[in-house]
Amino acid sequence: MAKVGEFTELSPVYVTARGTRIGVYLFKGRYFAYRNSCPHQGGPAMEGEFVGNSEVEVREDGSRREYTSTERYNISCPWHGIEYDIETGVCRADRRMRLKSYKIFIEGDEVKVRA
Ligand code: FES
Repeated sequence: MAKVGEFTELSPVYVTARGTRIGVYLFKGRYFAYRNSCPHQGGPAMEGEFVGNSEVEVREDGSRREYTSTERYNISCPWHGIEYDIETGVCRADRRMRLKSYKIFIEGDEVKVRA
């Protein structure tokens, strides 16, 4: 559990629940919690960098514009750089992989994780 006041946008707070280290962070006014273990090879995924999602816009004339989103973010596992959608935990490159997520509930000024 952590205090609401401890959170700033995209800055994880780590809690331990039933022996599992979990990264909790605030994004667009919502809390998200994922196990700090990458489904690839067990790296500390929640200790990675938050990066804007690489997007492609296809214009009417067929030309393409590649850009980095400022709306959709991923967390990039520090071991091999695999990226996970921070709002779903789903791997961007392989939808079969996802971070283990946990439900969050707010009680008073405390953010609690249901593990
Ligand atoms: S362990 Fe996370 S990308 Fe390989």
